[in-house]
Amino acid sequence: MKVVTKISEMTKAMLEEHRAGNSIGFVPTMGALHAGHLSLVEKSRKSNRITVCSIFVNPIQFNNKKDLEKYPRNLKEDLGLLDAAGCDYVFTPETGEIYPAGMPVLDIKFGTLDKVLEGKFRPGHFKGVAIIVKKLFEIISPDHAYFGLKDYQQLLVIRHLVSVLKLPVQIHSCPTFREPDGLAMSSRNLRLTIGEREMASLIYETLCKVKKKAGHLPVKELRQWAIKKINSNPAFSVEYFEIVNKYDLHSLQSWREKENALAVTAVFLGDVRLIDNMELFS
Ligand code: PAF
Repeated sequence: MKVVTKISEMTKAMLEEHRAGNSIGFVPTMGALHAGHLSLVEKSRKSNRITVCSIFVNPIQFNNKKDLEKYPRNLKEDLGLLDAAGCDYVFTPETGEIYPAGMPVLDIKFGTLDKVLEGKFRPGHFKGVAIIVKKLFEIISPDHAYFGLKDYQQLLVIRHLVSVLKLPVQIHSCPTFREPDGLAMSSRNLRLTIGEREMASLIYETLCKVKKKAGHLPVKELRQWAIKKINSNPAFSVEYFEIVNKYDLHSLQSWREKENALAVTAVFLGDVRLIDNMELFS
């Protein structure tokens, strides 16, 4: 496994792989890797000769300075995991290598996609994600790129980016990996205290109950029920819990479009912000 920190070196290596006729699969990450990330690597390895992973904590997608500072960083461990998983290249640039001239601009309209849900509570977040993903695609020129469904809205934003700019990369989504108690795997889980970690499955349990109740209670009532359920434990504070159309994220008013219904939520557990989602009629 080659570890590369310079853009010029990475671009050159990828050009050589393409010239040799090797298809490139790409897994972008911010490190603190878990089984969910490794499943993306595995999926890439099944359909590509070369798998590249990037580890870069992208400062411009954090709207909260504390969240950026506290974001877990385990580079040494991550490299060990990626090597064992059969990854071929890891790209781990410094911030100055990616953003030498400060904040770059990206003139793409995402419509409501980057304004609702996460976009509403994390202004600028998806612009930051789109800028880094576009930049990484330019450096690595992957044929295929892999993203987890836990960051569901991010996936829609990236599909939109690829479609508007006609980028020559195929986007693949992979199911959310869960801990045995149902908690969605996330790098931020490392920040939970032992006590918080023990309670954290409440989010998944509530989503499962919402799925069971979907169609039996009016949408508005079910949404309120879920918020109350999670907030009934004082360690939790729901930022949003919405039932939306999975294609354009507009809030459902009734169960008429129930086959597209997706429950999405962001919850603070202590000072750690966790997100999760679940299709309700799949
Ligand atoms: O999902 C993530 O870890 C990040 O948002 C991504 C796609 C690597 C961009 O920084």
